[in-house]
Amino acid sequence: MPCVCLSHPSCPVCSNSGCRWNTLLRRGTITSIWRIFTGTRTRSVQRSRRSYPVSSSGKTCGSPARCAFSRCRGCMLTWGKLWNNAHKPEEVEKQLDESLRQIGTDYLDLYLIHWPVAFVPNRGVVPKANEADTEVELDLETSLVETWKAMIALPKSKVRNIGVSNFSVAMIRAITAATGVLPAANQVECHPYLPQNELVEYAKETGLHLTAYSPLGNNLKNVPKLTEHDVIQSIASSIGATPAQVLIAWAVARGFTVIPKSVQNDRIESNFVQVDLSPEDVQKITAIGEKEHTRFNIPYYFVPRWNISVFGEPSEKEAKNQIKVE
Ligand SMILES: NC(=O)c1ccc[n+]([C@@H]2O[C@H](COP(=O)([O-])OP(=O)(O)OC[C@H]3O[C@@H](n4cnc5c(N)ncnc54)[C@H](OP(=O)(O)O)[C@@H]3O)[C@@H](O)[C@H]2O)c1
Repeated sequence: MPCVCLSHPSCPVCSNSGCRWNTLLRRGTITSIWRIFTGTRTRSVQRSRRSYPVSSSGKTCGSPARCAFSRCRGCMLTWGKLWNNAHKPEEVEKQLDESLRQIGTDYLDLYLIHWPVAFVPNRGVVPKANEADTEVELDLETSLVETWKAMIALPKSKVRNIGVSNFSVAMIRAITAATGVLPAANQVECHPYLPQNELVEYAKETGLHLTAYSPLGNNLKNVPKLTEHDVIQSIASSIGATPAQVLIAWAVARGFTVIPKSVQNDRIESNFVQVDLSPEDVQKITAIGEKEHTRFNIPYYFVPRWNISVFGEPSEKEAKNQIKVE
């Protein structure tokens, strides 16, 4: 499938068609663009509006996405995510419509349920019972199966494929068993500290596509950065690659698409350079997680707290609530 990576400053599809993604990317709006595509971060959309690119006809475009779409929409793979405050079936299409409006396109290629966690609807992006509250107000009634059914019912004219993010194998099995529809993709945290072996096996069996987020092990905890890990550094120097290239190649070798993030142009460019790893090196890197298991993105530790166990990690054992699957 042709795909434009938002972190790629010299996409051949775009430069061939004369679109100005390059201008846009070099202005450092990559994060903003990504957030436009996630469809939930209105502030980021507004920020990016200060730096509209200039179209090839010399006029400023209505939005960065419109600039790109006017040239090569059919060549671009666009993703969006349903935020937690729209899990109730009657909210799902409304939020999709709002994302399409913000992006300035008629359809998304892939629409994901962002988290297997529902918030109460119509009270903002991060609803709290009151200002002083330190916890998000969860919707404990809406099940994953109900939301998945609403995703399945979305018109194909607006979303070509539907999927999930941050879902476990058990959750995917349950929503698939209830509806007969396997998600097209699952976007999950994946790096050598968290190799996601169970999901990798399940994906091989079923054809589920996996995308690795935080593939460089975005460091929210006080542990050594993966780019500085001895095993990664030694493999990188043995093949003349950067540690980030090794981390990305490892994820690709295991069947993932990878979405590394950088705000630095030289890193964006070098992260896009593909290198090959031997099967032994892939194995050596996968073994890191066996001894040094670390998951960075745990909502129980977000501020405000989501008081719910999402992954069943030992560090979530104090969480008061469990995910309602069915
Ligand atoms: N589905 C979800 O729930 C979810 C959750 C979290 C994240 N995501 C998405 O996943 C994407 C990436 O994840 P992430 O930002 O958490 O983590 P990441 O891509 O693993 O790491 C980003 C960090 O690595 C640094 N970096 C980038 N290239 C580097 C290089 N070549 N050498 C050394 N350091 C480098 C970046 O710094 P500089 O920017 O300074 O280069 C930044 O600090 C984002 O687009 C994000 O939206 C999705």
